[in-house]
Amino acid sequence: MKKSLLILGCVGLALASCGNPGSSSTQTETAKTADTETSVSAEKPSAMLPGEKLVAMSDCIGCHNKTQKVIGPAYVDIAAKYPSNEKNIEKLADVVIKGGKGTWGEIPMTPHASLSKDDAKLMVSWILSLKK
Ligand code: HEC
Repeated sequence: MKKSLLILGCVGLALASCGNPGSSSTQTETAKTADTETSVSAEKPSAMLPGEKLVAMSDCIGCHNKTQKVIGPAYVDIAAKYPSNEKNIEKLADVVIKGGKGTWGEIPMTPHASLSKDDAKLMVSWILSLKK
């Protein structure tokens, strides 16, 4: 009785150990895909939008904050006031270049005469995209 149990046990072990042929090549492929994904997400800083970059490089930050009124209105408040369309982008780009006063209060915005119209439009369209 004891002997036959032992034999059965051995047969079971032998069966279990010879399964899974060829699983190692699949594993190498998965490792490769994971590598590519990591290098893509490491490039995040360059994913900044052109308008956002221009605003970040200019003096806007001294008077404007994305979500809070500083000296000028918050960008999200500007976005809430003006729907993002060609007419508003055109109009606000002019305000950024020539300066403005009286729409939000008595404090004026300084002109930015060195900005090109195209750059000012990129900046404004980024601002108008920042809905709350
Ligand atoms: C000296 C401070 C100051 C700086 C620098 C400044 N702003 Fe302003 N900004 C203001 C103030 C104050 C207002 C509100 C003006 C008003 O009431 O008409 C304003 C208003 C605005 C408006 C809304 C205009 C309107 O007619 O509703 C936009 C868009 C804007 N700023 C974008 C910018 C951008 C882009 C820059 C950077 C190139 C910038 N601002 C730099 C102070 C500033």
